[in-house]
Amino acid sequence: MTANSFTAHNIRFADGSETLPGYVGGLVADTAWCKGAKRLLNLIYGGNVAGKRIADLGCLEGGYALEFARMGMDAFGLEVRQSNYDNCLEVKRRAGLANLGFAKDDCWNIARYGAFDVIFCCGLLYHLDRPGEFIHLMGKQARDAVIINTHFAPHDWYPMTAFKDVMGPLETHEGVPGRWYHEHNGGTVDQLEQMKWASWTNRRSFWPTKEALLQLLQDAGFDLVIEQYDIVGDIHDTLMDPENIKHHRGVYVGIRTKR
Ligand SMILES: C[S@@+](CC[C@H](N)C(=O)[O-])C[C@H]1O[C@@H](n2cnc3c(N)ncnc32)[C@H](O)[C@@H]1O
Repeated sequence: MTANSFTAHNIRFADGSETLPGYVGGLVADTAWCKGAKRLLNLIYGGNVAGKRIADLGCLEGGYALEFARMGMDAFGLEVRQSNYDNCLEVKRRAGLANLGFAKDDCWNIARYGAFDVIFCCGLLYHLDRPGEFIHLMGKQARDAVIINTHFAPHDWYPMTAFKDVMGPLETHEGVPGRWYHEHNGGTVDQLEQMKWASWTNRRSFWPTKEALLQLLQDAGFDLVIEQYDIVGDIHDTLMDPENIKHHRGVYVGIRTKR
């Protein structure tokens, strides 16, 4: 794999070319996660999403940010790793959309980029060591809504629970229950760059329980707090599937209805 190989976001451009041809996960645009986020955004804005400013934090290769831009939103992806950011710039170049932008920065610096209508936080919260503080920060930076796609800490181990060997016991951190998750043993910037999907400098991350995540959203100022189920595809079969259950993952949404 070259430094700039795409790792997960297969994106198709207008000329038919793709970033990861044949990728087993298919196109980002076709995933249930992406389609679910777009449905939710259309619901929040009654279909009038054009011009709404959205941040995609920890955006990896920019596939979700691009789909939001394709909806007409003013999309901004933030990514801490240089190699991932370089791929985002390639996506911007190949997509040729003026309403798509990226910056290379730590998500903790999101306030540098001003206020957003919506913050999309997919696959990032579980890579942070202070998720409560970060949800509070997103609450300050997002006018209307925050969409968080994340793992949460299980109360009990199920026989099939994943990550058992890298997750600690249930304990309290930032005032909420959850478990510490071991990320990596640190290293130089070059070494951190190689771990393209992991946390940045924090060697462990804290995963609140699902109930704690929902409470943190409410405490961050969102009066409507929901879990979005349609993002799994077929709801019953997926929620009953041990392969799904074992990952303890969901989409938690905070919306300000009084705006
Ligand atoms: C598991 S991947 C998820 C990528 C993408 N959001 C998705 O759902 O496909 C986590 C991403 O967050 C980025 N990341 C991790 N810590 C970060 C931080 N402190 N600030 C910004 N990005 C970060 C990683 O480099 C990686 O691109």
